[in-house]
Amino acid sequence: MKHHAIVTILDDHPTRSDILVKGWVRTFRGNRFIALNDGSTLRNLQCVLDFENTDSGLLKRITTGAAISVKGTLVESQGTGQRVEVQVDQLEILGDSDAEMYPIQPKKHSYEFLRENAHLRVRTNTFGAVMRLRSALAFSVHRYFNENGFFNLHSPIITGSDAEGAGELFRVSHLDPKSPPLNEQGKVDFSKDFFGKETHLTVSGQLEAETYAMALSKVYTFGPTFRAENSNTARHLAEFWMIEPEVAFMDLAGNMDLAEDFLKFVIRDMLENHGEDLAFLEDRLIQEDKSKPERERQGMALTDKLKFVVENNFTRLSYTEAIDVLKNSKPNKKKLFKYPIEEWGADLQSEHERYLVEKHFETPVILFDYPAKIKAFYMRLNEDQKTVRAMDILFPGIGEMVGGSQREERLDVLESKIAELGIPQEDLEWYLDLRRFGTAVHSGFGLGFERLVMFVTGMSNIRDVIPFPRTPGNADF
Ligand code: 4AD
Ligand code: MG
Repeated sequence: MKHHAIVTILDDHPTRSDILVKGWVRTFRGNRFIALNDGSTLRNLQCVLDFENTDSGLLKRITTGAAISVKGTLVESQGTGQRVEVQVDQLEILGDSDAEMYPIQPKKHSYEFLRENAHLRVRTNTFGAVMRLRSALAFSVHRYFNENGFFNLHSPIITGSDAEGAGELFRVSHLDPKSPPLNEQGKVDFSKDFFGKETHLTVSGQLEAETYAMALSKVYTFGPTFRAENSNTARHLAEFWMIEPEVAFMDLAGNMDLAEDFLKFVIRDMLENHGEDLAFLEDRLIQEDKSKPERERQGMALTDKLKFVVENNFTRLSYTEAIDVLKNSKPNKKKLFKYPIEEWGADLQSEHERYLVEKHFETPVILFDYPAKIKAFYMRLNEDQKTVRAMDILFPGIGEMVGGSQREERLDVLESKIAELGIPQEDLEWYLDLRRFGTAVHSGFGLGFERLVMFVTGMSNIRDVIPFPRTPGNADF
């Protein structure tokens, strides 16, 4: 007999039929009622035991966390709280769980505690909901691009170039760290390393995606990226997943349209098709909010916030306009910003981004045309010679969600930029070839997948939206 996922049983409720289900015990009340969860849905299936005819040794083994198999008849529920329940005919313990030792008790645990038990936290309602939504979002991302004529490409994870030029690289090496071969200058001789050169984990698949866009026109990558930035914040991971579309013959305006359309599509998909998990998380946030002081409360309910993004246009304004807004803002005048905005050219900090989004415009904001000095080498230089065709999309509660640009397609401009920044040109000859052979206007962006999952689930720490977070000092599991 094939066993059924609890979600199909609860949704189709084929009462009076014989069923077989398998899952983990959430609670066992009164030696009679088992709340069984198999992760296919947030909801538990109530299994009712005829305890008078059940062996007492077996009853003792029905503990929170135990894996069991239940055969029985699905009937309309006698109690309130569920439409159907199973009258148990046969119960088998598949795997015992010591009730005293099991860390995930049926009560509220702190996120810190659950992070230490990341291998078990997905058995809680909250993490079950977050991870089902994460999975749904990943599928939705692929669906969007697939339905819009994009090809998916798997960009390499080990690379010989630093795409962002920020130097936040994790080395990949096969040399013996105790006695590496040295060159004449006494430095490590990476020509003797596995790949015959220095290599690192990728910080972005963009440069490789550009090569494919210049042949297949519309491509995207969705893969892991690695950054050794020592920022211990609730929005940074050392290993995170990035979605990077790249499109030939598309300028910055097209890039903004694409990013906005894409974000709205995936968020709408969650609202339309994953309401159950969202409703649970929304309720959780409302409860959490009640215990906070007035001014720290969220205000808008989770699904209202998502609907708001789907239904309204993102505000688009240039970096220069944003600086004006910030300069004249109350917190700037009252010196409330940690980094006061004094002049054009300043890099925006998350406090500034959040002011623009949450206080001033109260919509997601697309900022564009940033100073060349604070952006990566590959962005297209504007006629003013001092700004580049960059864009960042800022979201409430998150700050930067997307970073993208129109790429510099002119060989001479790109070459002089590379020289100016002292980037070794020989590492990028292949990238420059795209400008030598059939160059064209092209653009793309990168979306940090975990930041999207944070926004959709309302989770406030990025460590809680990825199964096993990697952050400075932490690579457990
Ligand atoms: O703005 P970034 O650095 O842009 C790029 O890497 C470009 N190559 C993208 C492109 O144009 N194809 O990163 C893109 C996004 C950020 O907006 C942010 O959402 C996310 O990646 N991100 C991080 N997410 C989690 N942890 C980190 N340490 C992140 N760094 C960037
Ligand atoms: Mg960025």
